[in-house]
Amino acid sequence: MLTSPGDSHTISSMQLSNASDFRARDSLLVGDCRELLKTLPESSIAACITDPPYNYEFIGHKWDHAEIQRRLDRIRSSNTLVKNIPYGSGLAGGVRNARWYAKNRKNILDYQEWCYSWGAEVFRVCKPGAIVAVFNSSRTMAHVQVALERAGFYARDCIVYRRSSGIPKGLNVAAKLEKLGDPNAEIWEGWHSCLRSEWEAIVVVQKPLENNYIETLQKYDVGLFHAANEDGSFQSNILEGLPRETAENYNIHCTVKPLTLMIKLVEMMVPRSPGNVVLDPFAGSGTTLVAAKQLGLAYLGIEINCEYAAIARQRLGLEQMGTTGRQETLLHAAGAIH
Ligand SMILES: C[S@@+](CC[C@H](N)C(=O)[O-])C[C@H]1O[C@@H](n2cnc3c(N)ncnc32)[C@H](O)[C@@H]1O
Repeated sequence: MLTSPGDSHTISSMQLSNASDFRARDSLLVGDCRELLKTLPESSIAACITDPPYNYEFIGHKWDHAEIQRRLDRIRSSNTLVKNIPYGSGLAGGVRNARWYAKNRKNILDYQEWCYSWGAEVFRVCKPGAIVAVFNSSRTMAHVQVALERAGFYARDCIVYRRSSGIPKGLNVAAKLEKLGDPNAEIWEGWHSCLRSEWEAIVVVQKPLENNYIETLQKYDVGLFHAANEDGSFQSNILEGLPRETAENYNIHCTVKPLTLMIKLVEMMVPRSPGNVVLDPFAGSGTTLVAAKQLGLAYLGIEINCEYAAIARQRLGLEQMGTTGRQETLLHAAGAIH
């Protein structure tokens, strides 16, 4: 065992490289990743590609449909374009006084601390040289990177995922002034409180190599990017033009990433060696895991919400929990089901 002695729920490295161990390979665990990551052995994961909640106001709250619906209902009557803006996120309204900025600052520092709490465990379970890619917004990515560097990772890049559309959020100043009867409203035509957001950030960090790329590659089968594209070009750090497929009708998750995008990231970051396992500790409906599976790689997902976990299981062709006593019993034993 590589994890702390006495912990009966840990998994040994040997088990992780054994394809028959359901918990370690090709599985989806249900629970808080900050707890469940502790049950995995160190240096056992080839790459972590994940999409955690960006909305730090969700931390400490339930992150489920009921909560999202509650927020939508609260503002149903308003004519705001973006309906699920988290409170205090800096995107919602409010008087910009010292209290507002202090709350905003506290929120982002709490978020950074939360990222560190799972980032430190991801660091422990990654092999030397493993690449970790974390989606985030352009406003919050710096905090994710700082948290992951504090956990021990080394910053490598920031990939731009260019989406096809972006809705302008914020204040149309001229319209607002006109509404207030300001005679100078026209002068401010075209001025806005923000730019149209058209990309998402993917923070890319790496667990330190063992001496150099070659030694790390030979010993751990990780450490490099696959940069040769089929058309002969060298892969850049901007991903665009990736089509979004229609989601399965049972997939009601509200932030599903395009499968083409996740396949591209897995292809770029994970050598297809038999022992390599792709981790997604914020699996949602399981798109990262589906991508890994399609590429013939082993995967391990964690999702806190049972409903989303069931969707991911269906996409992955895994048995639903509760239908097999073995899975449920073991997950209960690990404290993964409440
Ligand atoms: C942005 S979504 C991921 C969506 C995913 N990329 C997909 O394509 O379906 C983030 C997910 O993290 C889950 N989550 C939030 N906090 C978590 C925690 N502490 N442990 C595990 N999962 C968590 C949420 O329930 C949510 O499904």
